Amino acid sequence: MARRGAAPPDHPAKGRKALGSHRLRSFPLARAYRLIEPGPVVLLATSRRGIPNVMAMSWHMMVEFTPPQIACIVSNRNHSFEALRRTKECVIGIPPAEFLETVVAIGNCSGADTDKFESLGIARKPARHVAAPLLPDCFANLECRVIDTRMVNAYCMFILEVVQAWIDPERRDARMVHHQGWGKFAVDGRTIRLPSGKA
Ligand SMILES: Cc1cc2nc3c(=O)[nH]c(=O)nc-3n(C[C@H](O)[C@H](O)[C@H](O)COP(=O)(O)O)c2cc1C
Repeated sequence: MARRGAAPPDHPAKGRKALGSHRLRSFPLARAYRLIEPGPVVLLATSRRGIPNVMAMSWHMMVEFTPPQIACIVSNRNHSFEALRRTKECVIGIPPAEFLETVVAIGNCSGADTDKFESLGIARKPARHVAAPLLPDCFANLECRVIDTRMVNAYCMFILEVVQAWIDPERRDARMVHHQGWGKFAVDGRTIRLPSGKA
């Protein structure tokens, strides 16, 4: 049996060169999310009683291809939570790396006491199907409706369905950013293509 705290014994792969040192060090559970960060940092815009708001969000994942469905965590400490829960609508904007400073500023103040569009000078446009605004500085925008709230009480998890997607044709190759925790971000780099039968 492995000693408490020690890494399990190594079974080296046959005929393949080892990647890295194969030394495994225990990693704090509270930081595990930083290793498995799921996708690009996005913006989540809502509008409640005619007042638009926007927050930064990195805890989200696709759960269905078509219709596209997304699971996302919106903390009930955020002003956006009630707006999303009550209106059941939002826009997810996917910001380019150049917008990162503003994205972080958006994620560090609250619509509870700040008009972020005004104070941070964020552009917005009416959406086609939802009251939440489109964010034209983002290279892609997804108009979404909340289709499942069963996990909201337990996990603040909303299931969204994308009802309209928009892309800026001149910025299809925009680089996205990925949150690695506490102000650390990775920017998309080189694209690699390999033959694959799967989506
Ligand atoms: C890079 C980044 C990622 C974030 N990801 C999330 C997230 O996935 N879920 C969440 O509830 N809050 C997340 N936040 C925090 C909210 O964006 C932040 O609390 C924001 O101030 C909420 O705004 P609001 O009170 O106007 O809704 C993130 C913040 C940053 C800077």
